Amino acid sequence: MKDDIPKFRKWPIWTDEDVEAVADVVRTGQWWCGAPESHAGEQVWKFQEEFAKFQEVKHAFACTNGTHAIEIALMALGIGIGDEVIVSDWTFLASGSAVISVNAVPIFCDINPETFLMDPVILESLITERTKAIICVHLGGMPCEMDLIMEIARKFNLKVIEDCAHAHGSKYKGKMVGTWGDCGTFSFQASKVITAGEGGAIVCNDEVLAKKIYSVLDSGRLPGKWFYDHFSYGSDFRLGEMNAALLRVQLKRYPQQLKLRNNNALYMNEKLSEIPGVHPQKRDNDVNSCAQYVYPVYFDPDFFGGIGYKKMYEELEKAQIPADACYPPLHSLDLFKDINLMPNVDYNNANWGGEKSNPEKFKNIEKIHANAFELDHRIFLSDKKALDYVVETIKKIKKKYNI
Ligand SMILES: Cc1ncc(COP(=O)(O)O)c(C=O)c1O
Repeated sequence: MKDDIPKFRKWPIWTDEDVEAVADVVRTGQWWCGAPESHAGEQVWKFQEEFAKFQEVKHAFACTNGTHAIEIALMALGIGIGDEVIVSDWTFLASGSAVISVNAVPIFCDINPETFLMDPVILESLITERTKAIICVHLGGMPCEMDLIMEIARKFNLKVIEDCAHAHGSKYKGKMVGTWGDCGTFSFQASKVITAGEGGAIVCNDEVLAKKIYSVLDSGRLPGKWFYDHFSYGSDFRLGEMNAALLRVQLKRYPQQLKLRNNNALYMNEKLSEIPGVHPQKRDNDVNSCAQYVYPVYFDPDFFGGIGYKKMYEELEKAQIPADACYPPLHSLDLFKDINLMPNVDYNNANWGGEKSNPEKFKNIEKIHANAFELDHRIFLSDKKALDYVVETIKKIKKKYNI
């Protein structure tokens, strides 16, 4: 049996080039980016230019991590105490906790049961007088229906932050994610498709917003001004030079990996869709490219003897397939059972907390999450033999339980 198990790609992928890039920074002694005019270091500034070019956007700002990237975006957009921000319910904690960190109130939006992404119709139904912004999440790298989301945002005068932590280089209707809304945020944490262990970025096209992001990220400074002049409130969210040097090498390699992941995911879609009761995340025809950080799959319990995600995960693990259970819905986390998280913030409108965290209100995600698993992106960097092994294993699991 052991011999049948294909070799899945290891992650992260690195070569001597990555090692040398970091070692070069160590040797120069310029370990932080400083301001561009002081020439303290150049890796962060160059990475920002290169990432902006890759994401087809005017400005990119590197920062400490993807959680801070969302927090910086919220601060730069002026979201603050008591403002409501509508967030997709199926995401990593950070998309919701960032809202708490600026003393605003996250409102969780149920998903479309086919795309697993924020449902625009449900989104519109959650808007109140206090709503100021939307955080949509391109889960697994799959772009949200950005044209519809932007239409709603314009109608109600709302800011839009695209959480692109999974979606480097994903494209919808010919336009990169992160460039539809006011800004896009990225993560370069260890498991992400471009990584330096930790790191993040914010991208935007608007000049005024770009200046604000620069200031929030770098202690209220402004480009070209004296180092000890601080013009507004900001903190230190700067990325270090070693991380940026590593990211530059990872980014150079990325377009080829993106293509491979994308093509292999299309092959997997085709194969899995042939199995009755198996439903991979729906990919709209308007999706030009998908980063496929994870590949979420819903399996209908009627075809799998009623087993839930835990049993399925156990079976995939036994077969040594790089897979995982999916994120628990945000509304179900213990954190959001407490309705008084921050002092002096009015959480009365929150659609979570105590009785309000009732699963009945989040029907789609409750149903999908109970019977979903996600395949790791390493599978999509592997060869066809590895992809076929995953498909055959899922068929075997179905046969085992579909009595
Ligand atoms: C959707 C999403 N947003 C934000 C983040 C936060 O990124 P980081 O771990 O770099 O803080 C993550 C990380 O897993 C994520 O998956």
